[in-house]
Amino acid sequence: MLKVLQDDITTLKIDAIVNAANNSLLGGGGVDGAIHKAAGPELLEFNKTLGGCETGTAKISPGFKLPAKWIINTVGPVWQGGDAGEPELLAQCYQHSFELALENQIKTIAFPAISTGVYGYPKQAAAVVAVQQLKNYEHRFEEVIACCFSEVDVEIYERLLGSGIQAAVI
Ligand code: APR
Repeated sequence: MLKVLQDDITTLKIDAIVNAANNSLLGGGGVDGAIHKAAGPELLEFNKTLGGCETGTAKISPGFKLPAKWIINTVGPVWQGGDAGEPELLAQCYQHSFELALENQIKTIAFPAISTGVYGYPKQAAAVVAVQQLKNYEHRFEEVIACCFSEVDVEIYERLLGSGIQAAVI
């Protein structure tokens, strides 16, 4: 089942939350900063062993002090105008995060609006990519949550979901 929530993703007591990280996986601002703060210093120590993460790919960490069991770290594209493969890379973030979740028997998962903060991806364009991927995978999970931080994001996602947007062909 696919749900849109307005919430702080670090508070969700589910199998996995997805982190919009950077290539180092060593923390930062935005949702990355919030997740590291809530998970505690063990997350940074663990992520130091991961050797970074390529844009569009994903790596898994324990949730440590978070209510969520797992963190799936993914690195979204920095917006460069839309002709540098950003939509494809953003779609890959969702795809690789979902595949990693399936490999780890994860049944409930929440995503932030990847790349739409510091990385500057326009919210509407990013949500079109995100919703297509969320709809592609939702039937393979008990619960898939789009965890929006602002009301603006909630409205964008709900409008897209209400429009009966077709799942992308993968
Ligand atoms: N819960 C849910 N969503 C959140 C939270 C939170 N606690 N905090 C921020 N967000 C939302 C933002 O409002 C935005 O919609 O997450 C979305 C992604 O924004 P960023 O966190 O800025 O991530 P991104 O745009 O992918 O940029 C990644 O920012 O924090 C650094 O280390 C990170 O370098 C990386 C870059």
